[in-house]
Amino acid sequence: MPRIEIAPSVLPADFARLGEEVAALEAGGADRIHWDVMDGQFVPNLTFGPDVIAAARKHTTLPFEAHLMVLTPDNMAAQYIAAGCQRLTVHAEACTHLHRTLGNIASLGAAASVSLNPATPVSAVAHVLELIDMVLIMTVNPGFGGQKYIAAMEPKVRELKAMIDAAGLAGRVSIEVDGGISPTTVAPIVQAGASVLVAGSALFRDPLGVGHAVAELRAAAQAALA
Ligand code: DX5
Ligand code: ZN
Repeated sequence: MPRIEIAPSVLPADFARLGEEVAALEAGGADRIHWDVMDGQFVPNLTFGPDVIAAARKHTTLPFEAHLMVLTPDNMAAQYIAAGCQRLTVHAEACTHLHRTLGNIASLGAAASVSLNPATPVSAVAHVLELIDMVLIMTVNPGFGGQKYIAAMEPKVRELKAMIDAAGLAGRVSIEVDGGISPTTVAPIVQAGASVLVAGSALFRDPLGVGHAVAELRAAAQAALA
């Protein structure tokens, strides 16, 4: 059974207490912190600069991944890595030279991943799978938390999983999903091949706290694979 990883998005967190929020996510059993970086151009929202991420860095030992929903990821890759991100995820739709961008991220010492918007076919990563160890399939249109999960992405995840397996990269390239992920939506997308789960609203709206929500999401995903 693939190891399920929970990657909380801090988009719904209390931005006035980000240090405490990432510490609580670590205490609550999260595997990594997912920073939804938005530039107000690629998506109609503006979020975390590198200095904000750097301020949160000392409050947790968890790996940081930056989901760069930005038009020009090459311009700021080095700053997000210097801020403490171990992984940068760029959007295929934003990269004129995706192969070069991914090579640049690796040369800067970070893990490189590619994110695909709902309308973008998995063929967009067919020729860069050797350069990455994760593909992020958006299960909402990027820009905001709290949106409705797009179930039509399940066959897309299955198609990507088959592509990864056919390339002999099973176990080396994982599939992450992001958007509307909760205990009630997670089963089919995990059965399709996703193993890294980004969730924001489902974790922060739990009245029993993020620890309870992380455990509940992990249990629902594992039950789907049992
Ligand atoms: C969209 C964002 C969201 C966020 C999680 O651009 O990337 O998907 O991470 O959102 P929810 O609240 O749906 O888990
Ligand atoms: Zn994200």
